[in-house]
Parts: sequence; C-alpha cells; structure tokens
Amino acid sequence: MLITTGLIATGLITTGLITIALAVVLASLPWWLPDRVVALRVRVFNRINGDEDIPVPGDLVGVDRFKEVYSHPAAGGRSKGAALSDLFWYWLSPGPEMHQEHLEAGERYEAVARATRGLLAVPRAEAEELTRRCAARTLDGVQGEVRLRDLMMPLWAEFTYELVFAEPCPREARDLIAGNANDVVTALKCCGLRHMERRHRLTRYLLGRLSRVRLPLPADLSPQEQAFYLQGTFFNTAVVQMSEAMAHVLMALAQHPDVQERARHGDARYLDHVIAETMRLYPLFGIAHRITTGAIELDERTTIPAGSVLCFNYPAFHRAGFTDPDRFDPGRFDGPAKELNHIPFGVAANRPCPAWRLAPMMMRTATMEILRRYALASSASHTRSLPNRGPCLLTPLHAPEPTRRSSAALAWMRLRDRWEDVWRSLVQLVLGTYMVWDARRQRLCEHYFIDR
Ligand code: HEM
Repeated sequence: MLITTGLIATGLITTGLITIALAVVLASLPWWLPDRVVALRVRVFNRINGDEDIPVPGDLVGVDRFKEVYSHPAAGGRSKGAALSDLFWYWLSPGPEMHQEHLEAGERYEAVARATRGLLAVPRAEAEELTRRCAARTLDGVQGEVRLRDLMMPLWAEFTYELVFAEPCPREARDLIAGNANDVVTALKCCGLRHMERRHRLTRYLLGRLSRVRLPLPADLSPQEQAFYLQGTFFNTAVVQMSEAMAHVLMALAQHPDVQERARHGDARYLDHVIAETMRLYPLFGIAHRITTGAIELDERTTIPAGSVLCFNYPAFHRAGFTDPDRFDPGRFDGPAKELNHIPFGVAANRPCPAWRLAPMMMRTATMEILRRYALASSASHTRSLPNRGPCLLTPLHAPEPTRRSSAALAWMRLRDRWEDVWRSLVQLVLGTYMVWDARRQRLCEHYFIDR
C-alpha cells in the first residue's frame, strides 16, 4: 500500500515537472524560435541556390571598393547566367522578362528606361499636390491600430495610377493594384504563396487601358509586353517600394517620439534626414546582384572573371563606417552625405533607381500629411524585411486619448507581435522553401535565355 502511494506520488511529481518544463519551453518560444528558424531558412535557401555568388563586401572585395566594383562597366549583367535570377523572375511574374530591373542592356532596355523617365518626370509641385490628394482620400476615416504597409498601399496605388493615366483612380482599380502589389511583396517575404490569377487580372486590366497611358510606350513592344512593362515597373515596383519605404519611416517615427515631435514641427530638412537615416538602417534592397560581362581586375594577382555573380549587400555596406551603426540617429546626415556609405537608390553609374529624385519628395509630403493628422506609436518589432507589415497605433492628434488605454494597446501589440513572429517564421520556412524549390524547378530566366 505504502509502495503504491509512493509510486503514485512519484508519477504525479514527474508529470507535474514535465508539464512545467513544457509550459516554460512554450512560453519562451517567441524569444528563441524565430531567430533559429530564420537561420535555418538561410541555410535551406543557400543549399537550394548553390554557392555561385561572390558577396560584396566580402573576402574578395572589401567595403572600401564596394562602390568602385558596383560602378564597374563590367558589372553590367542583370539576369542571364545567375540561378538567383530564376528566383526574382518567379516572384515578379507574370512578365519578369519585361521588368526594367531585369532587362539586359540594349535597345529594348533603353526604350523602356526612357519611358520610365518620361512618366516619372513630374514637376515637384504637381507631385506634392498629387501625393496630398491621394493621402487625403486614402486616410479619410482611418484611426486606431493599422498595419502601416497596408495603410500605404492604396495611397501609392492611386498615386501611380494617376501618374500613368493622368486621371483619378477608380476604386476597383485601386483595389486590384493594391491587391497585386500586396501579393508580390507577401510572396517576396515568403509570408504567402503567389496568386497568379490575381496578377493576370491586373495584366488584362492594363492591356485594356494601354491607349490611355499619358505618354507613348515603346513602339517595338507588343501590347502584351507593354502591359507587362507597366505592371512590373509601376504597378509592382513603384507601389511596393513606396509602401515599404513609408512603412519603415512611419515605424521609425512611431518608435522615436522625440524624433516624431521634432519632425512634426521642424523643417523639411530634418524630415529628409529622418528619411535618409531610415533608408540607411532599413534599405529596401537586401542584395542587388549583377553578372559580370567581362573580367574585373582587382589587382595584379586577383581578377573577377566574366560570368561571376556579384551580390552587393546593402545592409552590410550601410552599417560600415558608422559608429554604433544599429542606433537610429538622423543627426548622422547633418553634415555632407556624399562621402557616407549610403546608397538607398543604388549607384549612379550602374542602373540606379529612376525614382531617386521623386521618391524622397513624395515620402516627405506623405509623411507630413500623416504627422499633421496623427500621433504614431508602435511597440512591434522593426526589422529590415518588416514581415509584420508595421503594426502601429494612429491617434488623431487633437483627440483626447486616455494614456492608460494606449499603454494597454501597446502592451497587447508587443505580446501579439512576439507570438505572431513564432507562427510567421514557421510559415516563412515552409513557404519560402517551397517557392525557392518551385522557382528552381521552373527556371523561368534560364529557359528564357536559351537560344537568345
Ligand atoms: C523609396 C523608394 C525606392 C527605393 C528605396 C528604391 C530603391 C532602388 C534601388 C536600390 C535600385 C537599384 C538596384 C540595383 O542596383 O540593382 C532600384 C532600381 C529600380 N527602381 Fe527603385 N526604389 C524606390 C522606388 C521606386 C519607384 C517609385 C519606382 C517607379 C518607377 C522604382 C523603379 C525602379 C526601377 C525600374 C529600377 C531598375 C532600374 C534599372 O535597372 O534601370 N523604384 N530602386
């Protein structure tokens, strides 16, 4: 009897201990699982992609020669010859072969780049006025908790539509454009699979509106190619990049109340520094790759041969040469910025972003429109890839908001964000691995260039 009671007690204690241990492991998941899953994902991606690339900066090319090699005339190939291109083409389909970013140098590229420059050449006052109008329409009635990237998508969808067609964007078109852009960026971050039917719907819509584009499109392109060009450059890239960049700026402001206050009441120059520092810490490009079209001689003994894949690492370059590089400090841009390791729009000598002049102007205007209306606060994590889409509390500036309520909302936001991170990192691992595998299986880029 005594022995039986002893055995039952030991069994209960063991079960109790196991339950406590399990509870501790479960409760601590948000603090260690996401990082491990990210590391695993990187390993899986590298495994599938192979190790063909040369990281810059890296052992061969240091930070000091980063810009020189990026600007080298032989660092000119965009797609052909890199396994990595298959992945980008997959994420940017349909029509990745017509995306300006991925066209090889030549007449077709020149014609497309000219068309983009033409559509982006809007007088400053007009661009600012259009941004204000789109902000007023899309922010109307918004308050409370939002995801900043989602908040920004309709604004830039409307802006881009009017930039291309010179007429106000109908609601159905706005939803279609924002839905497509959201689909592209969600897949790029491995948070969801592509939805090709949604993407094809936008292509069909653009095909039907080609005659309404406010400037002539390259005449050598078929109507289908013209629609792909517009979809890739304007209705994917412009909408996605502007929404992502703005989500980063607004997250940075939401998490630095003193900077937010100064930006709200300060001059445009200060806001420019806030935007520059945000783009330094959270550059939109993780890696830009180039395939060398000729040899690049580094010194008498070292040459990068033709056909090499150079991977220019923006975050690494943007950290180098700054003291305490992880600290958000707009004051870094008080002095001359030319010598800083700061290339948010690429390098001038090698296909930089055609919106390098217009984008910061639009961002400044949109940010001011938001700061005029709301106080921003966020306790969610802010990382470069921003897979949480920027959870943020928008409180109308002049509405009396009990502090206790927003503190509780922020505490809840932090807790929920941590737990979402656990689930999201597992989703990213599974979907990311599938998409990388699928892209390597389809080899869109490799097949396109066979026989060309
Ligand atoms: C804040 C917003 C933006 C940022 C930070 C950004 C950043 C960049 C960067 C770094 C590159 C060069 C990548 C490389 O060297 O491979 C690039 C290229 C490009 N961007 Fe942007 N971009 C932004 C907005 C836009 C917008 C609004 C458009 C609209 C048309 C655009 C269209 C393009 C295109 C077409 C290219 C390829 C250029 C070429 O190869 O000729 N970007 N962007």
